Amino acid sequence: MTDDTNPSAAELLHLRGRTLTKGDPLMPPLTLASMYHLPGDPAGHRGYGRSDNPTWEATEEMLAHLEGAETLLFPSGMAAIAAPFFAFLSAGDRVLLPSDGYYTTRLLADRILAKLGVTFDRRPTAAFAEGGFEGYRLVFVESPSNPGLDLCDIAAAARAVRAAGGITVVDNTTMTPFGQRPLDLGADIVVASDTKAPGGHSDILMGHAASRDADLIAAMKDWRKISGTIPGPFEAWLLHRSLETLELRFDRMCRTAGVVAGRLAQDPRAGSVRYPGLPSDPAHALAQRQMARPGLLIGLTLASAEKAEAFIAACPFLRPATSFGGVHSSAERRERWGDAVAPGFVRLAIGCEPAEELWHAIDRALGEAA
Ligand SMILES: Cc1ncc(COP(=O)(O)O)c(C=O)c1O
Repeated sequence: MTDDTNPSAAELLHLRGRTLTKGDPLMPPLTLASMYHLPGDPAGHRGYGRSDNPTWEATEEMLAHLEGAETLLFPSGMAAIAAPFFAFLSAGDRVLLPSDGYYTTRLLADRILAKLGVTFDRRPTAAFAEGGFEGYRLVFVESPSNPGLDLCDIAAAARAVRAAGGITVVDNTTMTPFGQRPLDLGADIVVASDTKAPGGHSDILMGHAASRDADLIAAMKDWRKISGTIPGPFEAWLLHRSLETLELRFDRMCRTAGVVAGRLAQDPRAGSVRYPGLPSDPAHALAQRQMARPGLLIGLTLASAEKAEAFIAACPFLRPATSFGGVHSSAERRERWGDAVAPGFVRLAIGCEPAEELWHAIDRALGEAA
């Protein structure tokens, strides 16, 4: 589908318009409320700020449209990831995690859930299906994985997990619903950090979980209400505003990432380059099948940690920052957080700068770092 013919993106901008009456603001009001006027029978009405908020509802409506499924907002990506774990797991359950995905998910497993009697196995994303899925209550997939950008065949994994009686949860943070729709591929739950491209301006943390299974949604909603892991209405309102330009920003980011990755792949100074959109990438064929866009992250492996740091420092259009998906391009050496990557591995997160300006800056910085 080309971006000029994306009906979902067009409808997203007019969801609220469908229900407006004369004199209403086009944008949803920011509602700060702990208490609601609630005389008599409370059933069917907003009751309390920990369970209900109209600003969350407006943002959830947009995300639900993008995911094609009921959606719950959480105060961060990690809160969204934690929701299915806490809502569905009991002592004795076994869970399969990627060994090469976002490291805080592994910390949640090792430092918190293991103490409650849940056991965890790990496999590399590129070989995730090897060994099968028998005996796992929950299988957690991250594709493309952060930071290595390996892919897992989501449809095949979800089919096999379902046949084995488990639940598949997919972290779609690196892609956004415009780049990949894991529920369409058969996953039971999609979770994501909206701190990244959906928020897009490096000023909020937020996350969401979505599912087409009403029981799974009800259990995660219960967890959110009881645990109090709820988003702030102002952050929800900012995310609503950002989602209106997500398609525009993500389109620019993916196009620019394609240009930059293609040139880096031809450039010996950049070392080996990972980008699922490159025909030479080992995951390209799978990317073509399951991803609508190739994404905004590029992996490059420079010769040493020093060269990688020098490259980042020399480029005026790369913020030396962790996280990704903001309008400003950024880069970091992931080994500094302990990720199992080469010391010179740089995760490049493409932002919204015009492609040629960004490329010239990257090209010059590579020259200076060489
Ligand atoms: C793939 C992935 N999942 C989840 C998260 C966690 O998101 P948050 O920082 O919003 O909690 C991140 C953050 O970098 C991430 O990269």
